[in-house]
Amino acid sequence: MLTIRNVSKHYGETIALSGVSIPFRSGTIHTVLGENGSGKSTLVKILSGIVTPDQGEILFDDKPLRARGPRAFQEAGFATAFQEVLIAPDRSVTDNILLGLDGMFTRRIPRAAREDRAAAVLARFARTPIDLNAPAGSLALAAQQLVVLARAVARDPRVLILDEITAALDFADRESVFDFMKAQAADGRLVIFITHRMDEVMALSDDITVLRSGRVVTTGPRGTATPQQLLQLMAPQGAATPEAISEEVRHG
Ligand SMILES: Nc1ncnc2c1ncn2[C@@H]1O[C@H](COP(=O)(O)OP(=O)(O)O)[C@@H](O)[C@H]1O
Ligand SMILES: [Mg+2]
Repeated sequence: MLTIRNVSKHYGETIALSGVSIPFRSGTIHTVLGENGSGKSTLVKILSGIVTPDQGEILFDDKPLRARGPRAFQEAGFATAFQEVLIAPDRSVTDNILLGLDGMFTRRIPRAAREDRAAAVLARFARTPIDLNAPAGSLALAAQQLVVLARAVARDPRVLILDEITAALDFADRESVFDFMKAQAADGRLVIFITHRMDEVMALSDDITVLRSGRVVTTGPRGTATPQQLLQLMAPQGAATPEAISEEVRHG
């Protein structure tokens, strides 16, 4: 469904991603795992059109999705909940959830319909009640995360990208977000799930990619590597080299 090929990105001296190739299959939760600084958010930003790679290509439905900015990715059906909680603090929860949607489909959705729409989106995965009229900035961080997720889900994306959004969530919300992710995958969509928590990885992933220092050290179906092997692959100063562990993973 989505293939990235030989993608690299550097920021000055820092190599954030180097020759990254990953095949993503529709109908899966594809987890991208890696330590802080391994390049996960850079990958997310490239797949959102916010960051343009220095080289490499992105193929979606076998067609090149050229770097034309966030709009091209939105129109192709990508939506992202970013790691940094990006909300308009003084605007209502409803406004934040529908941000960017009003102008996209219709000039103005009537007030009552807007609230119904925002409530319906939240109801798909949020368990904590959220006041739709409250300024988003007045909410607890966990609730703000849910609003950010709702903004992505409101677009009904074919590719939903979640960058470490579950860390701040309450237990009930986290479980229900996981159920929502599974339902999305069962519906033939792609969920790209960024985390560094092994428990979440093993519970949810169909496919797993491990990034280490901007490189893919393994990518493929869950079950190819054990949790212990994945942790070793992630570790910046592991006893074994990534190449040695990759060999071990490949040959069992
Ligand atoms: N805008 C930026 N300017 C300079 N360096 C950056 C920028 N964004 C990311 N980096 C660097 O690129 C590397 C990868 O970062 P990032 O993709 O955020 O990793 P992760 O999400 O896995 O923690 C890090 O060394 C980070 O400091
Ligand atoms: Mg990150």
